Amino acid sequence: MRLEAGDAALLIDSKGRRFLLELNPDRTFQYHEGAVPHNDLIGREEGSWIVSSTGAQLLLLRPRLADFTLKMKRRAQVVYPKDLGPILVYADIAPGMTVLEAGSGSGALTLGLSRAVGPTGKVVSVELREDHAAHARKAVEKWYGRFPENVEMRIGDVSDEIQSVEPARIVLDLPEPWHVVTAAAQHQPPGGLLAAYLPTVPQVQTTVETARETGVFTEIEVKEFLVRDWNVAGRSVRPEHRMIGHTGFLIFMRKTARPPSQED
Ligand SMILES: C[S@@+](CC[C@H](N)C(=O)[O-])C[C@H]1O[C@@H](n2cnc3c(N)ncnc32)[C@H](O)[C@@H]1O
Repeated sequence: MRLEAGDAALLIDSKGRRFLLELNPDRTFQYHEGAVPHNDLIGREEGSWIVSSTGAQLLLLRPRLADFTLKMKRRAQVVYPKDLGPILVYADIAPGMTVLEAGSGSGALTLGLSRAVGPTGKVVSVELREDHAAHARKAVEKWYGRFPENVEMRIGDVSDEIQSVEPARIVLDLPEPWHVVTAAAQHQPPGGLLAAYLPTVPQVQTTVETARETGVFTEIEVKEFLVRDWNVAGRSVRPEHRMIGHTGFLIFMRKTARPPSQED
């Protein structure tokens, strides 16, 4: 497909450096190997090779969601692509579902969730801070080119929104999810799933202990995903020297109807 004004575009240079642009006929992309007017990119096919003012070659692509979230402007730390995939799979996010998400932060997780629930589903994304919510809204608009119908953004504390949303899935990326676990124990529908993304061990411990104390969360799983890129060049086939050492732990749990001792 051809790229149009307003589209997100990714340029990759000969060393693999990646540049994210929003195509605008009045702008010129400048980098250490010259300049490329956006007008040279508008109307070009994805996958085209572009030549800069100094003769350097660049590959023009439409960014993947993973490229976009790593390169877009951020306010809060985003969920990395390596964790986004497992969140979608282990939280079992599927088309048509209603997902309650918090905090909206920079909007990276919101984008992954909204793609997964599709046009028949809904993501209610809640954020305490108005400035973060505005930033996330812009990121979502930039990715889709307009604000999608399947995302609703709310300002406030996510714990206060569970009862009105009745979410099949709750996905949390915020510092103190144990407060939300306590609220979800009361208001999330039975059979629902709650997922939390946390950078430190004490946060994981408090969240899991709180979930157990409620008596209504079970199937509690804590996971960490390590991803190693590989270099494949002639006989040099080996892991890359560098990798992302740590991002966060993922916790998943299922909501039961009532504690086992109270079953009929
Ligand atoms: C790490 S950021 C989230 C980043 C986001 N997941 C992304 O991928 O771009 C955490 C956000 O949670 C928000 N937050 C903290 N506690 C909250 C709460 N109880 N309800 C809603 N948002 C909350 C913070 O203001 C912050 O913007």
